[in-house]
Amino acid sequence: MATAAATIPKDLSRLEAQAAGVLSPEALAYILAGAGDAGTTRANAAAFRRWKIKPRKGRRPRKVDLSTTILGTRMPAPVLFAPVGVQTLAHPEGDLATARAAAELGLTYLHSTQAAYKMEDVAAANGDGSRWYQLYWPTDDELTKSFLRRAKAAGYTHLVITLDTTLLGWRPRDLDRGYSPFLENKGIANYTSDPVFQRKLVAPANVAPLPAGIIFSGVFQNPGLSWDQLPLIRSSWDGPILLKGIQSPLDAKLAVEHKIDGIIVSNHGGRQVDGAIASLDALRPIVKAVGNELPVLFDSGIRTGRDVFKALALGADAVLVGRPYLYGLALGGQAGTHTVMQRLVDELETEVRKAGRRSHRSLSRSSLIRTP
Ligand SMILES: Cc1cc2nc3c(=O)[nH]c(=O)nc-3n(C[C@H](O)[C@H](O)[C@H](O)COP(=O)(O)O)c2cc1C
Repeated sequence: MATAAATIPKDLSRLEAQAAGVLSPEALAYILAGAGDAGTTRANAAAFRRWKIKPRKGRRPRKVDLSTTILGTRMPAPVLFAPVGVQTLAHPEGDLATARAAAELGLTYLHSTQAAYKMEDVAAANGDGSRWYQLYWPTDDELTKSFLRRAKAAGYTHLVITLDTTLLGWRPRDLDRGYSPFLENKGIANYTSDPVFQRKLVAPANVAPLPAGIIFSGVFQNPGLSWDQLPLIRSSWDGPILLKGIQSPLDAKLAVEHKIDGIIVSNHGGRQVDGAIASLDALRPIVKAVGNELPVLFDSGIRTGRDVFKALALGADAVLVGRPYLYGLALGGQAGTHTVMQRLVDELETEVRKAGRRSHRSLSRSSLIRTP
C-alpha cells in the first residue's frame, strides 16, 4: 500500500497522465478511447468545470456522514466501482484486484459481462463484499438466462442492464490499430466459462481463440433489444434491476413505467455516441422528471471528490467511477485502485464539511453556481 500511495497523485486529475506512462499503447488506446474524436468524453469533463462550488463561511461539522443505502445496499459513501471490461489491460490481476479493493473499502463493485475473469472467481475475490452484476444482454436468450443464474448463485445482488452498447461505438483509436481485445479472448471469460456458450464452440476457446472471439461477436451486439423483452429478465431475476446508459427524461420515464428499480445516467464515458451531450448536463432534467420515483445514479467524467460533490448536488443519489480506478490499477494493482477510490471519498468528505453539511444528502443545486 505504501508504494501505491506514493505513486498515486493526491490531485486525482493528474492520474490519467501518470497512468499513460505505464500502460501499453493498445491498453491506453482502449481505455482512453472515446467514440469519434472523443468530443463527448471532453464534454463530460468540461461540464464539471462549468459548475463551481459556492464557498460558505461558518462552522464546519466535526464529522460527516457519507453513508447511504441504495435499493437495500448499504454503502459507506455514495461511490461505486463502475462496471469496466477487460481490466487485465491495466493490470494482470484485473477484476480480481478491483473486487478485493472494493471489499476492503466496503464500496460496491459492479462486475462487467466483459470482465477478464469469470464472475465466480471475482465473487470469491470479493468475499463478503457488496457486488452487483452488469449485463450486456446477448442475442441468445438461453445465454442470458445462464448468466443471470450464475450471477445469482455467485452472490451478485442487483442487476444492471447496460443499454447504450447494443452496438459498439465508433472508436477510431482501436479501429486504426485494428485492435479488439475480444478477438484475443481478453474480456470474454464469462462467455468461455459458460455451458450455453461452450455448446456453440467447435473447439475449446483456449485451443481455438479466434473462432471463440468471432462467435462472441455474433452474440454480443444486440441492436434489436426492446422494452418488450423485459419479461424474459423478470422471469430469470428476482432482485432489483437498474438500467445504465439513460440520457433522456423520456427514457427515464419509460423506465419508471416499466417498473424498473433504478437508473444510471451515463454516456459510457463518451465511448458510444460522439457529439452527444455531457452526461452531467443530462442529470438535472432526469432528476426533475423521475427523481422522486426511483434512485438516480450517475457516471461519466468523474475524476475527483469535488466532481462527486457536484453530481450529488445536482441530484444524483450516488455515482459510479470508471477510468480513475483503472488508472490506479495500472499504477499500483489492488493497492493502487484502493488508494484512488479512498482519496476520492476523502476529498468528497472534505468538500461536504467545507460546505458546512453533516451529510452529502443535504447538498442541493444551491450548493453550486453555474458559470458559462
Ligand atoms: C475501458 C472501459 C471499459 C468499460 N467497460 C464497460 C462494460 O463492460 N460495461 C459497462 O456497462 N460499462 C463499461 N464501461 C463504462 C463505465 O461503466 C462507465 O460508464 C464509464 O467509464 C464512466 O465514465 P468515466 O470513465 O469518465 O468515469 C467501460 C469504460 C471503460 C473506460
